[in-house]
Amino acid sequence: MKKFGVTVSGHIMESQRLHPEATGYLTGLLNELIVAAKTISAEVNMAGLADILGMSGDINVQGEYVQKLDEFANNTIKRRLAASGYVSIMASEEEADAVAVENSSGRYTIAFDPLDGSSNIDVNVSIGTIFSIHRATNSTPNEADLLQPGRRQVAAGYIIYGSSTMMVFTTGEGVHGFTLDPSVGEFYLSHPDIKMPGRSKYYSINEGNRNYWNPEVRAFIDYLREEDKASGRPYSARYIGSLVADFHRNLIAGGIFLYPRDSKNPLKPSGKLRLLYEAAPLAFIAEQAGGRAITDDGRDILDIEPESLHQRVPLIIGCKHDVDTAERFFKGEMNETS
Ligand code: AHG
Ligand code: MN
Ligand code: MN
Repeated sequence: MKKFGVTVSGHIMESQRLHPEATGYLTGLLNELIVAAKTISAEVNMAGLADILGMSGDINVQGEYVQKLDEFANNTIKRRLAASGYVSIMASEEEADAVAVENSSGRYTIAFDPLDGSSNIDVNVSIGTIFSIHRATNSTPNEADLLQPGRRQVAAGYIIYGSSTMMVFTTGEGVHGFTLDPSVGEFYLSHPDIKMPGRSKYYSINEGNRNYWNPEVRAFIDYLREEDKASGRPYSARYIGSLVADFHRNLIAGGIFLYPRDSKNPLKPSGKLRLLYEAAPLAFIAEQAGGRAITDDGRDILDIEPESLHQRVPLIIGCKHDVDTAERFFKGEMNETS
């Protein structure tokens, strides 16, 4: 029977009902995130009018200008989750240090990128929020609980503020997408059990960095651009500059995204993207949807043992067939002629 108008809260409650051992804490935590998502979505949609555009003048731990919406999104999530009692400690792109939640009954930790794609805020291009949830050892705030390999994630997801606002997440039982009906303020199930297409149509990489890539990366991109009708090549290039938007298109339509290490910025030898709140949550989603995520030296993102909150990793993520091919290029097992 086709379900009509399943809300995201209804979907979460249903999946909790299937787990009698569930305490309801994860449900409560996800519901707090949903309220935060609706709040941020309303602000993002008003950004052009409410003079919230432009720089807040602050610089974050990444050494990047913090846009006002980044701060708004960060404060919205941080305050809601701290008050919820469900998390013991948090990591945010906009917070240099972990945010401990004293006197919580927190059983989970959360790492989040409050607003991904900040450079696109002022030009009205899709942006997003990314989150990653792990189990906490206990309710005492412990930074080590944030530094767990991605394979141990309990839940991960993102909200994309685009032509419509969508929430896409997994709790380890497939990937489900919900679209916000702003007239009633509800997220409805619109993309049940998302699976990545077997093969990509698109490749996403900042070609402006080509001269700074490793030769194996250049060889792989040249391979994708060669004509070979049998393997659907050349792929089309699509690069928005918001990881969430590039990832979401590849998840739905089929694609491979690459942000490899490059020699352009000696301060970022491992590429630009962060493990805890960009690469690991999206890698969990990708694998749950039949895709894959690796580094440019062939390590699975989900197996990396984090060493620091804002640790950067090279990220190659998308349809498994294409990520497997990329891995063979990175390991020198293929070259353009093969
Ligand atoms: P954030 O806005 O959270 O700092 O993330 C921006 C990231 C990511 O969204 C995107 O894929 C990447 O920056 C684009 O970087 P380049 O402009 O160097 O291509
Ligand atoms: Mn980001
Ligand atoms: Mn961000």
